Amino acid sequence: MAVIVEPFKIKTVEPISFTTREERLERMEAAGWNPFLLSAEDVTFDLLTDSGTAAMSDAQWAAMMIADESYAGSRSFHEFERVVRNLTSYEHVIPTHQGRAAERILFQCAVKRGQRVVSNNHFDTTRANIEYLGGVADDLVVKESRDPSSTFPFKGNIDLARLEKHLETHRGNVALGMVTITNNTGGGQPVSLENLRAVAALYRKFGVPFILDACRFAENAYMIREREPGQSGRSVEDIAKEIFALADGCTLSGKKDALVNMGGFLAVRDPALARDARNLLILTEGFPTYGGCAARDLEALAVGLREVLDERYLEYRLATVRYLANGLNKAGIPTVQPPGGHAVYIDAKTFLPHVPPRRFPGQSLVVALYLEGGVRACEIGSVMFGRPTADGGFSAPDLELVRLALPRRRYTQSHVDRVIEIAGDLAARRDRLRGFEMTERPPHLPHFTARFRPDEDWTRTVYGRTR
Ligand code: F0G
Repeated sequence: MAVIVEPFKIKTVEPISFTTREERLERMEAAGWNPFLLSAEDVTFDLLTDSGTAAMSDAQWAAMMIADESYAGSRSFHEFERVVRNLTSYEHVIPTHQGRAAERILFQCAVKRGQRVVSNNHFDTTRANIEYLGGVADDLVVKESRDPSSTFPFKGNIDLARLEKHLETHRGNVALGMVTITNNTGGGQPVSLENLRAVAALYRKFGVPFILDACRFAENAYMIREREPGQSGRSVEDIAKEIFALADGCTLSGKKDALVNMGGFLAVRDPALARDARNLLILTEGFPTYGGCAARDLEALAVGLREVLDERYLEYRLATVRYLANGLNKAGIPTVQPPGGHAVYIDAKTFLPHVPPRRFPGQSLVVALYLEGGVRACEIGSVMFGRPTADGGFSAPDLELVRLALPRRRYTQSHVDRVIEIAGDLAARRDRLRGFEMTERPPHLPHFTARFRPDEDWTRTVYGRTR
């Protein structure tokens, strides 16, 4: 299908702004060459994240209007609980304001100092919350995940041999076993059902509770149906339900596949864990029947969880990601293969071989995408994970990636076409892109607030600007 038909029509619109290159240069300079510090008003295509950026449906807005904002025992909570229980099979449903609040509460209840939590790849907030409590977060993703050109269909899988060895070595000291679906850190890559079944069996064998980080569960279930032998005849909902049934609980940021702008939950089978979690919830988020949300948020979340399993929606969603990846590849821009669920990840190391990791090739590309056409993307490479070393060197991660995340139901195919065109124009001058120096390095999560200085002649070389 060359034309992607968005399975919705547009009822409410929001204007986007267009800027000149001169304006974008000024804005970027004022933002310290860090797109996180730009004003969203100055961005034309905002592909910074797929989190909390979905367009809600008329049914979601309608449900919000009839929400019951009672402090305790609200009808909206019961509806939300019913939908989550039906999908996940977990008895205890604890609403939180977003994913990381569910993570914090879970880890505070279940992880002691020095204990380990294992996953395919922990997302940054998950890792940070574990480490904050003195725990150790271990990543055991398959080795194919480190090769951007490998077309292995399930690059989110856990390496089962390593997992078994790890659980043996640390027997008695692994507090939780997790799996992130899809694996955001590794390129939005899915985890196969076969792998999830085997992981569940191993966690069970070693007596380790299995918790899913499930914020992109529907995209993962759809890719299982597309890619995994024997799964093509099943409904996505059926696959999603099997995934949840394999585990003992989940944390879920509703800002992704639940199609809301704010909200999330922790859901578990274990009543003792649920009791502890609710006690913490009351202390830091709110009463158990609203947690960190308004009742209207819970209504929208409940509707979103059902809408996201619409297979026409998922077909459009995954086709759009594939279309963007293929368009960039045709323009000579290498991306992580195969395209994943919510974003396209450009391989900046291969694209800009003349910019060394210590001069941040991903940052160079992120800046150039904005200057070229107002596209905002996110660096996932040496800015995020690189560190200067004590001997004056630089420790860089394996990959230098730039993520173009697609907000759900927000942009149409023509927007994506324009983004491909902009990237194509930029590809023609790739040799002229230069690196950056990080002039301000915050101690934690540097990508959000770091400031940069372009190598001396960056703007002049690329755009002929003189100062
Ligand atoms: N887990 C995964 C896999 C995530 O991608 C995120 C957020 C979270 C947990 C935390 O959820 O933001 O609701 O607290 N990812 C966003 C992103 C921020 O841009 O990928 P949250």
